[in-house]
Formats: sequence, C-alpha cells, structure tokens
Amino acid sequence: MASEAGKAPAIPGRRVLMFPLPFQGHLSPMLQLADVLHARGLRVTLFHAAFNAPDPVAGYRFVPVGAGVPAADLVPTGSDADFVGALLRFNERLQGAFQDSLREVLEEEEGARPACLVLDSNLRGMQVVADRLGVPTLVLRTGGAACLVAYMAFPALCDKGLLPLQDHAQLNMPLDDLQPLQLGDMVFSTTTPHETMSNCLERIMESARYSSGVIINTFSELEGADLQKIIHGLGVPVYAVGPLHKISPSAQSSMLDTDKTCLNWLDKQEVKSVLFVSIGSLASMTQEELVETAWGLANSCLPFLWVIRPNLVQCSGKVGLPEGFEEVTRGRGMVVSWAPQQEVLGHQAVGGFWTHNGWNSTLESICEGVPMICRPHFADQMINARYVQEVWKVGFELEGKLERGKIERSVRKLFCQEEGGEMRRRAKDLEDKATECMKKGGSSETRINLLVDFMMSLPC
Ligand code: UDX
Repeated sequence: MASEAGKAPAIPGRRVLMFPLPFQGHLSPMLQLADVLHARGLRVTLFHAAFNAPDPVAGYRFVPVGAGVPAADLVPTGSDADFVGALLRFNERLQGAFQDSLREVLEEEEGARPACLVLDSNLRGMQVVADRLGVPTLVLRTGGAACLVAYMAFPALCDKGLLPLQDHAQLNMPLDDLQPLQLGDMVFSTTTPHETMSNCLERIMESARYSSGVIINTFSELEGADLQKIIHGLGVPVYAVGPLHKISPSAQSSMLDTDKTCLNWLDKQEVKSVLFVSIGSLASMTQEELVETAWGLANSCLPFLWVIRPNLVQCSGKVGLPEGFEEVTRGRGMVVSWAPQQEVLGHQAVGGFWTHNGWNSTLESICEGVPMICRPHFADQMINARYVQEVWKVGFELEGKLERGKIERSVRKLFCQEEGGEMRRRAKDLEDKATECMKKGGSSETRINLLVDFMMSLPC
C-alpha cells in the first residue's frame, strides 16, 4: 500500500526510536513492530511511560519518560473512566519530559541520527516535540483501517449535525458513505464529552497527516477498500504490515501474569468445542452482567474458558460468581484471571470467541479462523464488530441488555446451528488469507520491505 518508497542502501545498525501507549492493546503491536524492524537490522530505542516499563528485550535500549508522574494521573480507572481524557492528559503531562529525554538521546548519539520516531497515533504531543528537534515521525495505528476511515469522516458527521447524537432513534441510521457502519458505531464513548472526543480524533488525524507515513496493523486482503480510502485521504505513504502478532509471535508483552494452566485444560477438550470468553484489558461489566453471563454460559451446557481479570467488574459492593455456578460447570468450564490469548485462540479445542472486538482480539481471532460472538463496549470496537458481522460474516453481535437466555441462545447458534458453521468456514478462509499475506512476496511482507527501505532512505 505504500506509495513510492525509494530503495536506499541499508545502513547497518541504523536506529529507530519508538514510543507506544502504556495499554496492552497498544503496547503489544508496537513491540511486535519493533521486533520486525530489529529482525531486519534496525536498532531499537523504546521510550515508555516511566510507571510501567515493558519487560526488557535483549538488544533494545529502553528510555523511561516522566519519572515522578503518578500513574493515577495518566491511566483511567473506575466504571465511568474517561479514557479519551486520559489520552489527552498523557500527552500534556509527558510532553516536557519527552523533550528532555529525546534531546539527551540525540546528543548521546550525535553523528548517528536515528532514522525516525515511530509513535502511537494517540501521541500527537510527542510528535510535535520530535518535529521541533528535527526527527521524522511515522505513526502506528494499532486499530484497523476501517476505524481510521471512520475517524476521518467524524468531522463531516459533526458538520451535518448528526454528531453528537441528538436522538437515540438515530442510532441505527445507516451511513451511506461509510457502509456498513451505522451512526451508533460512531458514538465512541458514552463517558467522554463530545468536545474532548472531537479534540482527541483531530489530534489522531493530525498525527497521521503530519507524519512521514502511517503504519497499520492490518492486511490488504482484509481491508483493501478502506486502505485505499486512507491512501487517497491522507496524502502520506501507508503501510499495511499486519497481522503483527503472527509475523512476530515471540514479541510478548503481557502486562498481567498469564495463567497457562488453561492450555493443559484445553488439551483435554474436544476439537472446536470450547467457547473462549474475554473482553480485553480495559472493558468492564457490572456485577449483574457478570451473573447473567455466568448463568448464560452454564445453561448453554457447552465447555467454556472465561477470563475474569481483577478489574473486570465495576462495582463497589460484593463482586463474584453466583453461588452454585462452580458446581454446575465443574469439569466443563474454566475461569482464569488472564489467559495466553493468542495460544488459546490457536488451540484446536477452541471453536468460538466471545469478544469485545478490540482490534487485537479481532485480528487474533481472524488469524486463527475462530468465529466470534461480538459484544463491543467502546472506541473502535463497534466498528470492528460491524465488520465482523456484515463484511467478513465471521460472527454476530450479541445486542441489547445482557440476559442469560439470550447468551445461551447465542452460544448455541455459534456452536450448534448451521449459521455458526458457515461463519466458521468463512473464518477459515480469512485465516488462509492472513497466512498468505505474510509469506515471501505476500502483501504484508512486501509492505514491510518497503517500510524498512523507506526508513533507511530517510536523511542521516
Ligand atoms: C484497546 C481498545 O479497547 C481496543 O478497542 C483498541 O483497538 C486497542 O486498544 P483492549 O481493549 O485491551 O485494547 O483490546 P485488544 O485490542 O483486543 O487487546 C487486548 C490484548 O490483550 C490482545 O492482544 C489479547 O491477546 C491480550 N489478552 C487479552 C491476553 O493476552 N490475555 C487475556 O486474557 C486477554
């Protein structure tokens, strides 16, 4: 997808700087990209928020930014957490510290300028600093191409008076220019004020437009049409280099302790019999929803592996699984606090995934040919779910209030009905396409080569 990228002689050991956001769904793809670049001969310096250093990687340099800034100032917590406001704060609070750190790194390496800084697209504040110090930037989009297209269209919907949403009756309004999206898919948060959301999206789009190129964790066989819209809309080179977790499977970066005992448990289950239930690292549910989910899974009578991470339930009172649930599901259900998700999805026993449709989870499911029950919560998740249901047809949305009977019927639809079987077959086709794009001469392998050439060609 890259536009013309000049071939340049490789400069051995040229350095690339990187700056991810300190959230699981953003950190992992950045580290995977770092691994890809490192494997092609680039050296890596990784800036990171001081409060959460990623696990060290041999051969990389890690530079903490903002020591002394409390995590609580940067990371949202609580049921009504405003993630978007936190992103803007992250930029404000760390911009000065980043300027000092970047200047130090550049001075230490005088005479060997880094090729560029690759930063998360939410870090427009850091991009401004890099521009000031003469370091070219590339932006990593950890979401899909459809999401970026939707972000590009957001201001026009505001100009038309459709956003902020005036009337709940408009939630299902089809958006002709953004098919198959509906207006409700563009309501990215119910806790963030509209002005804050607009500001955040404007900064994401600025980071893309003012960059030397945009890197997207997707592949052209999956999102070709949306990638074309981005290429035409942005005017900078666009590199679709995913699925990064498959291209760089060894780049692990779990922020929580992973319980691998579930893999032994999966070994004992029948092929494609288990539903994996996980809603990522940020989304949450109420205690009432937890109870409905528990009984929905129990009543389905099918095996399940369920991730209940420590802060999954937003509740000030008693939190926990309902009485009797463990006895009823003993032997056919397992609960863990954090799973090795990619290995789980790749396990032969897993036949379905109840997901919140964070982009990483969506891509991981697609790459293993696992059909999905979609239960999006916020941000890009509604867009991803819409594509899973309407475009790729490898899953369906569990809509409305969470209720045990509805959950039971959804699980049965995926595992026991012909419709679910068709979704599974289409998911297998997508898995094959994902495998192809990574092979020599495949679309993503080609884009990665172009990206590395481009980085090498940037002025020394
Ligand atoms: C966030 C946003 O919510 C998401 O919409 C956006 O696209 C990226 O940033 P998150 O909610 O955590 O990410 O979801 P997701 O993108 O799916 O990333 C979660 C990651 O955690 C996945 O890579 C998944 O494999 C991993 N995970 C999740 C585990 O390793 N174990 C688990 O038990 C659960």
